[in-house]
Amino acid sequence: MPALNLSGLPIAITGASSGIGMITALLCARAGMPVALAARRVDRLEHLAVEIRRGGGRAIAVACDVAKPEDCARLIDRTNDEFGTLYAVFANAGYGVEGGVCELSDAAWRGIFETNFWGTLNTIRPALPHLLAAGRGHVLICSSVVSKMGVPNLAAYTTTKACQDHVGRALRLELGGKVHVSTVHPIGTNTEFSQVVTEKSGNRPRTARSPEAFRQTPEHVAEAVLRCLRRPRGEVWTSFTARMLAAIGTASPGFADFILRKHFEGKKKAIAQAAASGGA
Ligand SMILES: NC(=O)c1ccc[n+]([C@@H]2O[C@H](COP(=O)([O-])OP(=O)(O)OC[C@H]3O[C@@H](n4cnc5c(N)ncnc54)[C@H](OP(=O)(O)O)[C@@H]3O)[C@@H](O)[C@H]2O)c1
Repeated sequence: MPALNLSGLPIAITGASSGIGMITALLCARAGMPVALAARRVDRLEHLAVEIRRGGGRAIAVACDVAKPEDCARLIDRTNDEFGTLYAVFANAGYGVEGGVCELSDAAWRGIFETNFWGTLNTIRPALPHLLAAGRGHVLICSSVVSKMGVPNLAAYTTTKACQDHVGRALRLELGGKVHVSTVHPIGTNTEFSQVVTEKSGNRPRTARSPEAFRQTPEHVAEAVLRCLRRPRGEVWTSFTARMLAAIGTASPGFADFILRKHFEGKKKAIAQAAASGGA
């Protein structure tokens, strides 16, 4: 199948004020897509929109809290009004929080579901009727490598990522190819994500950050998203090694538990040692 020419096809991207969403927006604009930029920090979106327009692209900034369905509906309406019928939507906004399964408060669990899970539904629901009416289009959801596995001290986050994965797969099958649906599964990516996790987790030492050697840039992820827009596929993996490890983990959960437990215990020990030597 020839690669799709994206020029002129409008896309709405949530979480465009930073990281993966911001770089994806820049690459989409460079490919000729009119881009609706959505997030809560609208000043950042305005800057990005100006940068895109200076480069000859088309962009609007839309203040949007994805936890609010009315904000997401407005995002889709504004995109249609400004650029003509929406072609694609990237439900990318999200954050992480650390804490044990029974340790995290109800408010923390509900809060992350409001943004990562409900935010995804809120974003794709108002978009879908337009794509279906047009008889073409693409829904992309930013899930994660951890969608396929629970991680100690990160269960609230990994559960939302698994939910996004399930929603994406079910929707893809329900739509039967009339509209493409893709889930994106990045590994640790060097964005503001980590800093936000630390803040949301009460600034305590992290046990669940991936090793430096196993991290990538938002540009790497955004390029994979662009490839998927041009040549649609169900799942976008940004690391072959991670994809293989996830597959092995699913086939052999005992082995995955062994590795995860070792990693978690090692981190806890290192944090305890650092605290002890700091206090000495
Ligand atoms: N970085 C990683 O290691 C990694 C790995 C796998 C998957 N991911 C996924 O990638 C996606 C993007 O994360 P990132 O790494 O680019 O992190 P980031 O730099 O922290 O960006 C997160 C974006 O989400 C937006 N956002 C958060 N809550 C929102 C809300 N309620 N309404 C609207 N926008 C909201 C933020 O904008 P405002 O604060 O301005 O609203 C920001 O633009 C997330 O879904 C994350 O789970 C990240």
